[in-house]
Amino acid sequence: MAEKKLSPQKGVVSGVIEVPGDKSISHRAVIFGSMANGITEVSNFLDGEDCMRTIDVFKSMGVTIEKNETNLIIHGKGVNALKKPSNELYFGNSGTTARLLLGVLAGLPFQTYVTGDESLSKRPMNRVVSPLREMGAKIEAKGEENVLPLTIDQGQLSGIQYKLPVKSAQVKSALLLAGLFANNSTKISEITPTRDHTEHMLKAFGADIVKHELSTTITSNKQLKATNVTVPGDISSAAFLLVGAAIVPNSKLSISRVGLNETRTGIIDVFKKMGANIEITNVVAINGELIGDITISYKELEATLIEGDVIPRLIDEIPIIALLATQANGTTIIKDSQELRYKETDRIHAVVDVLSKLGASIEGTEDGMIIHGKTQLIGGEVSAYHDHRIAMMASIASLITRDEVILDDDSSIDISYPGFFQDLEKLLG
Ligand code: S3P
Repeated sequence: MAEKKLSPQKGVVSGVIEVPGDKSISHRAVIFGSMANGITEVSNFLDGEDCMRTIDVFKSMGVTIEKNETNLIIHGKGVNALKKPSNELYFGNSGTTARLLLGVLAGLPFQTYVTGDESLSKRPMNRVVSPLREMGAKIEAKGEENVLPLTIDQGQLSGIQYKLPVKSAQVKSALLLAGLFANNSTKISEITPTRDHTEHMLKAFGADIVKHELSTTITSNKQLKATNVTVPGDISSAAFLLVGAAIVPNSKLSISRVGLNETRTGIIDVFKKMGANIEITNVVAINGELIGDITISYKELEATLIEGDVIPRLIDEIPIIALLATQANGTTIIKDSQELRYKETDRIHAVVDVLSKLGASIEGTEDGMIIHGKTQLIGGEVSAYHDHRIAMMASIASLITRDEVILDDDSSIDISYPGFFQDLEKLLG
């Protein structure tokens, strides 16, 4: 546990910066690179705790992965060369490692035993386990049903046609990965589009994957071909700094080379709806992923309603959007976000607790929150709930509090944004 005392700031947030690589894309680069034949070079890889768990899992199955800061060289030899690990596979705090790997392990010809930390061991796995079992996977819980730890045995997978009952890219990705091992094609349909990095990257690795409106069909393929991956900056990390600049008067900030995949840019739509001064420039596409620069400067903001199809496009940004809403004029309502209750912590509860302790006027609802702005935040002692996004939300809040913010533990920030405080200090000049 590392307590952090954050003094209220006098300066503005200003400058030009890049944020670390996208977490979702970094995980996928390791997974697909390890399953493919040939050498995959990954640049701007996120050197964070969660992605290290994915690297370790494949190393335990015999893949050579060289890492030099944020560059990876993955020596893939194809799925048939993956070996039975000699120990359990430990997923740590990482939901993405857990869900996506279940889809892969279900198709491998050996038994694995998978575990996670305390928080991950409470998160629901039935959303992945149940459709995987429908495909023929042999997955058994070691203790309580449908949570980690789990044992996965060799099963013969068959393709399914499956309509996702939860709006989850992790579940969709797990099933598409399992589809690579199935004896016929697999079709996954969504009610609302979720992030589609798996679909873009699998195509780049040579998979036969076709998207038609809200459905994606994949054909079995154990011969993915290595390709290089450039990881864009993570918009979910950029969000914290963008909100910092949006709430501190006279700030102006540019973040370069950020991922702008349409399924992730809900926060930009929200900024625009609230009247923010925000601009996107220099957009290019690499392997189907858009990358560009975001510039924002301080302006008085108005409250807004956030609901429906935009939610999966900003699900990880809701904590920091809630802080933003405390500084907008009027009442912001966030709905349709019950998924927040199943993240690293119950994020509806955590956001409401932390922001109320800091002096905000905020109430939780079953599927979201109601925030009355604009309020002067006071400061105080708060818990990060061992959740990186709650820790960073409280840290950004300290830029505008009257008194100090004391955070019980800032170590979770390494999950997605190692170097967060150094970057923030740089921008505060
Ligand atoms: C992720 C999908 C989302 C997101 C998580 C990363 C991914 O989770 O919250 O941080 O990489 O696919 P769900 O699939 O549970 O919505």
